[in-house]
Amino acid sequence: MQEALNIGIVGATGAVGQEILRCLELLDFPIKKLLLMASARSKGKRFCTKWGEFQVENAHDADFQGLDIVFFSAGKDTSLALAQKALHAGAYVIDNTSAFRMQANTALVVPEVNAHEIPKKPSLIANPNCSTIQLVLALKAIHDAAGLRSVRVATYQSCSGAGQKGIDALIDETKTALNGTRLSDSTVHARGIAFDVVPQIGAFLSDGYSEEELKMIQETQKILALPELAISATCVRVPVLRGHSEAVFVTTRKKLSTQEAKNILANAKGLVLSDLNDPSQYPTATQADGKLQSYVGRVRQDYADPNGICFWLVSDNLLKGAALNAVQIAQYLLNLNPST
Ligand code: A2P
Repeated sequence: MQEALNIGIVGATGAVGQEILRCLELLDFPIKKLLLMASARSKGKRFCTKWGEFQVENAHDADFQGLDIVFFSAGKDTSLALAQKALHAGAYVIDNTSAFRMQANTALVVPEVNAHEIPKKPSLIANPNCSTIQLVLALKAIHDAAGLRSVRVATYQSCSGAGQKGIDALIDETKTALNGTRLSDSTVHARGIAFDVVPQIGAFLSDGYSEEELKMIQETQKILALPELAISATCVRVPVLRGHSEAVFVTTRKKLSTQEAKNILANAKGLVLSDLNDPSQYPTATQADGKLQSYVGRVRQDYADPNGICFWLVSDNLLKGAALNAVQIAQYLLNLNPST
């Protein structure tokens, strides 16, 4: 039996931090001590868990000694400031931010795809961007079966991708709009998000792509170990609370029939093909809310390319897109009968 562990969560009060806590409970982690950390604003807040009641500490004053694993989900700057401290204390760090993902010597892991890259001794493992995680589940299966030639993806990303403040902004801006004033600006999103879709997540780069689009492209190439993969993305914020959707268009080296593509995706690790027997049962963000699996549907031939397949992909961005993937990495670290 696994010895009980000491676990830290930096960003424990946030949207992803709360889901990490829920996933640890759900997957029945053997925990002795939980160190919940956030900004100074949250110091002293209390949370009841299945392992007892714990009080939030200011992450910047916290003592990481004795922790086995520390999850970071408090923004890039906090990871840059504190991850080394946790590593020096001898802990594994599972970092949910973009701070270290593209460093050559940092493992960027989706366990269903590249669990073999999880290091065997305490080090930092990066959790990929939410939109990337669900995408590589499908791409890995297609690549293994037919060889990927190119990937094009358009995302429909929920407001919770910007954390609790992203959720609050959608609700507040929608109420304001229903009261007669539609705001063109948002305090959190690139534009007012009520009753609109916004094709910008993160700042724009000199080539016209957004930071989120670049993350999807580079992280997909890294996780699949296909640095030359032809891939482009358009990332869009939509007025959905939770759950990211993606329209994906792939071309493959070996031509696939629609039925072959359906079989491949139905058998892909971590994916459920929702509309196998009934075309009206395609997945939506609301249906994926709270679910551990990711969902695929609308699989069909791409009329624009004889070797092309299109499909629709949906996942809970706070679960598989963030917290669940991080906790699954921890299961692998500890040989805890991984749930993937
Ligand atoms: P706090 O609740 O005290 O602000 P979300 O992504 O949902 O906005 O959550 C962000 C998480 O990161 C929260 O737990 C938040 O804590 C934490 N956080 C934000 N800024 C810092 C910081 N400078 N140092 C430590 N934790 C931070």
